[in-house]
Amino acid sequence: MADKPTVVMMGLGYIGLPTAALIASRGLQVTGVDIHQKVVDTINRGEIHIVEPDLDGLVHHVVHKGLLTATTEPVSADVYLIAVPTPFKGDHEPDLSFVLAATKKIIPTLKKGALVILESTSPVGTTRKMQNLIIKERPELKEELYVAYCPERVLPGNVLHELKHNDRAIGGICPESTKKAIAFYKHFVVGDLHPTNAKTAEMVKLVENASRDNQIAFANELSMICDQADIDVWELIELANKHPRVNILRPGTGVGGHCIAVDPWFIVSEFPEHSQIIRKAREINNYKTQWVIEKIKNAALRFEADTNKKPVIACMGLAFKPDIDDLRESPALFVTESLIAEGFNVLQVEPNLSNGNREGLVETAHAIDNADIIAFLVGHKEFKNLEAPKGKTIIDFVGLR
Ligand SMILES: NC(=O)c1ccc[n+]([C@@H]2O[C@H](COP(=O)([O-])OP(=O)(O)OC[C@H]3O[C@@H](n4cnc5c(N)ncnc54)[C@H](O)[C@@H]3O)[C@@H](O)[C@H]2O)c1
Repeated sequence: MADKPTVVMMGLGYIGLPTAALIASRGLQVTGVDIHQKVVDTINRGEIHIVEPDLDGLVHHVVHKGLLTATTEPVSADVYLIAVPTPFKGDHEPDLSFVLAATKKIIPTLKKGALVILESTSPVGTTRKMQNLIIKERPELKEELYVAYCPERVLPGNVLHELKHNDRAIGGICPESTKKAIAFYKHFVVGDLHPTNAKTAEMVKLVENASRDNQIAFANELSMICDQADIDVWELIELANKHPRVNILRPGTGVGGHCIAVDPWFIVSEFPEHSQIIRKAREINNYKTQWVIEKIKNAALRFEADTNKKPVIACMGLAFKPDIDDLRESPALFVTESLIAEGFNVLQVEPNLSNGNREGLVETAHAIDNADIIAFLVGHKEFKNLEAPKGKTIIDFVGLR
């Protein structure tokens, strides 16, 4: 492979764009591909369409240096990365249509010796499926195509640092593919690069998120038990965590996001008999969101019984976790929309989004002043140390105080 291989990045979202920009910042020529013309146009102006600290400056820099170009059609390159969505469909089955569509798109541009790396979170066997799809259409590449899987484990809000510094598991469909993929990631990753096979690398990503989901489910279950027992769950967890070998996570409104709320289902759908804890954790975390809705509705009923008025409810936070703008699979959004759908008078607050991104948002101060019931659904920094207004019902599901 060339000293500075050329790169195509399929998908320019939360993962693809920062990765493409970081690679370009190392002096490699990167072509970013997305199906949305608006995304392509924004990036080609040196601007960004997502919220991620420091990403705007980096994208501006590499685009103006001519190292990153966005387009809707892939070009021929030495290395292809695929970071497109992998949601679920139907009864929580993985939807691979984006991965397969992106793969089909690059097939005509592949040359001998090309390296294709899947980064999208995927069920076990997807990398092999991708390789089979390519070889079916381009049989002459059979012995001269390298295919690998390398999962992404970055934390939104700290993506640029983690992309560079996190360790990574890299699994090729053959040892030579693994070697080539590791050599490629050395261009921009300083974390350790751990070689494995494609299936193991695929499963590594899934179990990382299933493990987090299980731990959060434990915390969420505790929060509901403590509520019934009239015990402050935050104090309980703080005290239990004084034990040198106990580390209970924080409960919340449920579990959301593109990863933890989705990926465990990829294991459950493939291995239903042997993934009972994994399934149960998903169910508990989803149930916690319903429980939150019921708590708010009960507070509303009490308010109405006491005052003979319908309450105004402030839903504080819509994102799936603190200090980001991402609404995907967000339990806070689900709670808010469920209350609106049931006819409650709801004020929506999301300090990380502007009214241009979503209609009907109000400022934090407006909601605090005008609501009767204030439900903290996300632990955004803007909500910490807020003055507690007198005479309002405050329900804190995220332990702000
Ligand atoms: N966001 C995270 O924090 C995170 C972390 C780890 C892993 N992942 C995984 O990474 C993958 C990508 O996630 P994301 O958050 O970047 O998603 P995203 O929705 O932010 O971005 C995906 C982009 O791919 C584009 N796209 C869809 N089909 C395409 C195609 N055929 N060709 C080119 N572009 C196409 C979309 O328009 C979109 O801009 C997913 O599998 C996700 O599970 C995400």
